[in-house]
Amino acid sequence: MSRLSIVFLFLFSASLAAEDNPYLSLGEVASPDDNALLEARKQVDHYHELEIIDAPGIQSFHKRNPDTETDRQTLCRVCHPALPHRESLRSRSFLNMHTRYIACETCHFQPQGVSFEYRWLDYGAADCCGMVVAESTDKAAVPSLIPRPAARIAPFFLGRPALLFKDDPTAREIRETWKEGGREAKARLKARLHVSLKQDGRRCADCHRRKQTLLDWKALNASDRQAHAIEDNAIARFFARYKDKDQRLRMTELLR
Ligand code: HEC
Ligand code: HEC
Ligand code: HEC
Repeated sequence: MSRLSIVFLFLFSASLAAEDNPYLSLGEVASPDDNALLEARKQVDHYHELEIIDAPGIQSFHKRNPDTETDRQTLCRVCHPALPHRESLRSRSFLNMHTRYIACETCHFQPQGVSFEYRWLDYGAADCCGMVVAESTDKAAVPSLIPRPAARIAPFFLGRPALLFKDDPTAREIRETWKEGGREAKARLKARLHVSLKQDGRRCADCHRRKQTLLDWKALNASDRQAHAIEDNAIARFFARYKDKDQRLRMTELLR
């Protein structure tokens, strides 16, 4: 291990101990096992940053930028692209769409024995981290419950958001290690950061199902009608019919 990475590992551990951000205190309950480390070494060897290529001369058809740079970014974005889902051809577009209004941590951060409250968090505000206050809109006329463009549904613990923004000092140290550290330091970092991150995220039905228990629609300021529309979502219902990864269903199943 290089001297540099030892220094960074030390800094990393020291600041984790001192931090009282719920993301750090709850996520660090276990250390990675040998298998996770082995896997992480391979992943670090294969990791390469994606470059988004702007094809010259082709006008953007969709108006919405996938990653509005005015939105603050969280720790995940140190290493993952804005639209991080690639592997599952079947679900990746839907999962990537949800990253515009649902925090990565809502689907992936699942420490053992901990339950969160899920609330709107404004990623646009520079003085992070209050919950977004419910605004009075004419909900009958607005089909979407997203209160403002930079708001995402995020986990809260004892009233504080359980995530780290990229400009947090600990996130900066992580970024340094990821950039400057040696292979072993990076593998340990990857393994350690992912102990409480569930690989498979959440299932569509965790949120899109009648009487689901993950999200509290009232607390998210949804009207009954909006809540009902989300729970009764035909596309999510279609996804619930998949029994395994390779199964193929016909689009006409949507009409059932
Ligand atoms: C320091 C870099 C780093 C940070 C920060 C990071 N990841 Fe990763 N993550 C990786 C690498 C490397 C992999 C291996 C696969 C790849 O290259 O994408 C990975 C893989 C994953 C996987 C697939 C399962 C696994 O463990 O291999 C998930 C899910 C994931 N990350 C979610 C997240 C989320 C959510 C966050 C933020 C809370 C996050 N990651 C933060 C580097 C990072
Ligand atoms: C709506 C829930 C949801 C959100 C939000 C979400 N994920 Fe995922 N994520 C999933 C699911 C489900 C999978 C498993 C996909 C599969 O393989 O079927 C997954 C898989 C992954 C993987 C594995 C690699 C791949 O190509 O699928 C990574 C890495 C990942 N997510 C990172 C992130 C990051 C970073 C964010 C935030 C920018 C994020 N996710 C937001 C649900 C979510
Ligand atoms: C963590 C909760 C959560 C998970 C998991 C989730 N969704 Fe959603 N989804 C939402 C919320 C909240 C909205 C409402 C956004 C709005 O009001 O604009 C939504 C909206 C949608 C929409 C409507 C989008 C639009 O603009 O009309 C579709 C379609 C959808 N989800 C499909 C899926 C599918 C398919 C999956 C699984 C691959 C999935 N969702 C997983 C919470 C979730």
